[in-house]
Amino acid sequence: MNATFAQRRRALQAQLAATGLSGVLSTNPADWYYLTGFTGEAGALLISRTGSALVTDGRFTVQAKEETSAIRVVRQESSLMASVGNWLHGRVSGKIAFDAGQITVDQFRTLRRAAGPRVRLTAARGEIASLRQRKEPGEIEQMRKAAVLAGKIVTAAFKLLKPGVREIEIAAEIEYQMRSRGASGPAFETIVAFGARSAHPHAQPTEKRLAKNELVVLDLGVILAHYCSDITRTVFLGRAPARIRRFYRAVQEAQAAAVAAAQAGVTCGEVDATARRVLTRSRLERYFVHSTGHGLGLEVHENPRVARGQKHVLAPGNVITIEPGVYVPGLGGIRIEDDVAVHAGRTEVLTRVPRDLIEI
Ligand code: GLY
Ligand code: MN
Repeated sequence: MNATFAQRRRALQAQLAATGLSGVLSTNPADWYYLTGFTGEAGALLISRTGSALVTDGRFTVQAKEETSAIRVVRQESSLMASVGNWLHGRVSGKIAFDAGQITVDQFRTLRRAAGPRVRLTAARGEIASLRQRKEPGEIEQMRKAAVLAGKIVTAAFKLLKPGVREIEIAAEIEYQMRSRGASGPAFETIVAFGARSAHPHAQPTEKRLAKNELVVLDLGVILAHYCSDITRTVFLGRAPARIRRFYRAVQEAQAAAVAAAQAGVTCGEVDATARRVLTRSRLERYFVHSTGHGLGLEVHENPRVARGQKHVLAPGNVITIEPGVYVPGLGGIRIEDDVAVHAGRTEVLTRVPRDLIEI
């Protein structure tokens, strides 16, 4: 069961009280959904210990009233930050946390001016993110469905990989399948990369046609009932040469070792280091040019980060990706990515697609 939006707001208010904050401001739509159910595109959410408001413009005020309950919907007049500040003025005093990554310097100044001298703005320390990164059982159930759907779509895409097909055609078919199978859309721009292009970890699909003896990297995710999934599989068109097999085996081993390491009580830095140790043994670590993974949830990239030196200690409810890869310029790239939910005493792999090298 999921907590209600109001229960989540109360949990946040209790946390605010414990940290000496009067309130927290967010302009991140994932935070609004998590705390209120609002799915509009523009606005700001203010949760304070003494009252909360959702400020949005005239395009979304009716929608906001329909989608939320027990929260004040305030219609934006002039600029967003002036409206937020005006609402705060005289109602709330003390420290209000804002996300320095979300607000421009101009917005900050407008907000400070409008809120008046009794409000002190302070950079947030992930007050909302820390709640969101601990998923409730109902959220994990939803993410399981999103992961299974992504797995079905990537598996169906394998069948389309024939000589002459273009990257962009495969991406279009994948995204068509997402919506027609119930997703609200892709969680990020679908990656389809053939041959040497697969050496770009975030290749955008082009007109390139698939040729025999090329690697194929497919990386896709869906948004299903608000929650994201993210899966990558690498395929070889033909019989893979010994060098590619060796690279693939190393990535597969690194991925399995990092999944096994992703247990409650282990730091994200240690999970990342586990993948790197395996690739170092095969002298491939220098080709592993990104981090091992990232938190997943209402956003495709959220806390915790699974990267070098990250001190976050995994806890039950965390959902992360594990996606080591090697990218050899001129030759191609290999990546294997799964979504993993951390439970007490065990780890659940949500994406259920075999990981052995597929040769087509
Ligand atoms: N799968 C895309 C990404 O994690 O950035
Ligand atoms: Mn990913």
